[in-house]
Amino acid sequence: MGAQTSHRYFVTGGAGYIGSHTVLALLRDGHDVTIFDNFSNASRDVIDRLGALAGKAPVLIEGDIRDEAALTSALTAQKYRAVLHFAGLKSVAESVEKPQLYHEVNVGGTEILLRAMEKGGCKAIVFSSSATVYGTHGVSPIDESCSLDPINPYGQSKADCEVLLENNCQNDAEFSAAILRYFNPVGADKSAKIGEMPKGTPANLMPLILEAATGEREKLAIFGNDYDTPDGTGVRDYIHVSDLAAGHTAALPYIEAHPGAHKINLGTGRGYSVIEMIQTFQAVNDVPIPYSIEARRPGDLGEVVANPNYARELLDWQANLGLEDMCRDAWAWKKSIVKSSS
Ligand code: NAD
Ligand code: WQD
Repeated sequence: MGAQTSHRYFVTGGAGYIGSHTVLALLRDGHDVTIFDNFSNASRDVIDRLGALAGKAPVLIEGDIRDEAALTSALTAQKYRAVLHFAGLKSVAESVEKPQLYHEVNVGGTEILLRAMEKGGCKAIVFSSSATVYGTHGVSPIDESCSLDPINPYGQSKADCEVLLENNCQNDAEFSAAILRYFNPVGADKSAKIGEMPKGTPANLMPLILEAATGEREKLAIFGNDYDTPDGTGVRDYIHVSDLAAGHTAALPYIEAHPGAHKINLGTGRGYSVIEMIQTFQAVNDVPIPYSIEARRPGDLGEVVANPNYARELLDWQANLGLEDMCRDAWAWKKSIVKSSS
């Protein structure tokens, strides 16, 4: 169903995995979208694909969020209803090697964006935070009142951004921020025309399952089967990326009407183990996933699951797609990219 009123939104990182699915949802709701992206982790094809899927093209501004002149020029040339800020670096391992870079892009980029928004008179932002800000509390399901304890530079950069946004809201009574703490996004749009395209060697479970499914990887290493979980393997709250995108479109009208900083978990509230992921993937797609049990990965917790109640109360949003949809759509996307590159 289309939106009753059409607005113009500015989406940093809109060519990336979660950003592109959110742009698609906005375009399908009849909104106008400007994507600001430097394509450091995205393909230019995505822009045309989004236009074809939605029947309406996004505007593209190619640029880096560290470029204050470019962001200021973009945000003052047009009036935007809100900014959705996805652009940033997201590899935990890389952040340990290059903590300064993660601070510069994620925190510095957000500071620059906030200054440019002020000049352009835009007072609402949706920010991509992460369940990783909770760190090692080990409380599961976890709710938004839990204190933050990030354990790596990536998580610290997200926690620092949350503070920047809260300060902005304190200093300007009209400013609003939805700080969305994503759990484990997986899957792809059911068209299989957009999806996740990790550069280099992936670190997350689903891209690694996909590599084991195609044979690019001999087998999947399961990191530990001695956790205090039903089958001993790690349990996570996997959420379909299209449900996650819908969480953003639900957050927009809320923040447009409610100034202040709103920290909200986006998860399903249901955890699945690594073994359950593998079994469901095999059953839904009829593809074997060879695996071996290996040592625990340092820094991992046994179970990380969201308490999603606040999102339901505040945004009237909840995830609808299940693990079978996630596995089926991820595989359809993977097959489409393997085919187009062969
Ligand atoms: P992604 O890498 O697919 O998308 C990020 C986009 O930002 C890419 O299109 C990239 O080209 C762009 N970008 C990166 N640096 C930029 C810069 N300096 N200037 C302009 N554009 C830049 O990542 P994603 O999975 O879509 O994640 C989006 C956001 O959500 C990130 O902020 C990430 O930290 C956060 N997040 C992701 C996950 C996850 O598991 N994917 C979980 C929690 C939070
Ligand atoms: C999921 C489960 C692993 C790989 C990470 C980031 C977090 C967020 C999402 C951005 C765990 C197990 C994994 C493998 C395995 N990103 N696993 N073999 O660790 O919950 O979160 O991505 O914000 O910041 O830390 O996700 O997909 O890496 O792992 O057994 O080869 O799969 O041990 O139980 P994680 P993940």
